Amino acid sequence: MHVDVAVIPAAGRGTRMLPATRSVPKVMLPIVDRPAIQWVVEEGMRAGVGEFVIVVNPGVEDLLFSHFEGMEGLDTLEGFDGVTITRVVQEEPLGLGHAVLQAREAVGDRPFFCLLGDNLAVPGLDQLGYLAAASDGRSVILLRDLDDEGLDKYGVAVPGEWLGERIVEVNGAIEKPGRDAAPSRLGFVGRYLFNPEVFDRLEGLDPGYGGEIQLTDAIAGLAEDGRCLGYVADADLLDVGTHATYLEATARLGLWHPEHSKSWRAFLQDLVGDA
Ligand code: G1P
Repeated sequence: MHVDVAVIPAAGRGTRMLPATRSVPKVMLPIVDRPAIQWVVEEGMRAGVGEFVIVVNPGVEDLLFSHFEGMEGLDTLEGFDGVTITRVVQEEPLGLGHAVLQAREAVGDRPFFCLLGDNLAVPGLDQLGYLAAASDGRSVILLRDLDDEGLDKYGVAVPGEWLGERIVEVNGAIEKPGRDAAPSRLGFVGRYLFNPEVFDRLEGLDPGYGGEIQLTDAIAGLAEDGRCLGYVADADLLDVGTHATYLEATARLGLWHPEHSKSWRAFLQDLVGDA
């Protein structure tokens, strides 16, 4: 399946990254040489996406979009000329599911990727192409085996029948179930390919976990109708949503970076050697 549009929910308040996010939106925090959101957009571009719908909270639209378009919209970031970026404002912080729903009009009746800005792929270990290849028209969620701690932090799938070594039918979904209630260890790690029918599921949702409209609950709705698959990732995504994992992500992407990897690797080796 070819997917030409991606939704990037970027309206989170970044509370786990305070105080860095007191005045800077979380997705604008730099990782090596570019803000987190640029890494995410580039990942989508590598998968053939030409249109991005970024959902932001009120007040930060100009800051975020001037990164790609220049202050007056006149100075496009190098390499992003052919890319369309549409801004959508989430007026109230009602949850991730609500943020994705705000993109409905911009996406229309097309399948779309949903890329969470907290999670970054190391270039070369991209997973979006696998989601597109796995889809038979149904939505496909990227899954990863979680440890105990992850069961408190991520949405978790109720697995059904395996259709291949990495592809499984999803029969249900629970947001942050914790170890005792977890139906499996297969967690949602921030990359989704949705059939547009997910918007109908989101429309009808009541607040769920944490009093918020949860994307995971819409996935549970799709799963109930047999309309959802999972694809088990063959590489980890990086998490830039907490202090400790942000540091790890910076180190890892520094080691990948064509311009900085050599000196960064040497520096880390020296540092560890000294310790
Ligand atoms: C969100 C989703 C959760 C998903 C996670 C991936 O949680 O609600 O299902 O597993 O992103 O990063 P959050 O990190 O916003 O608490």
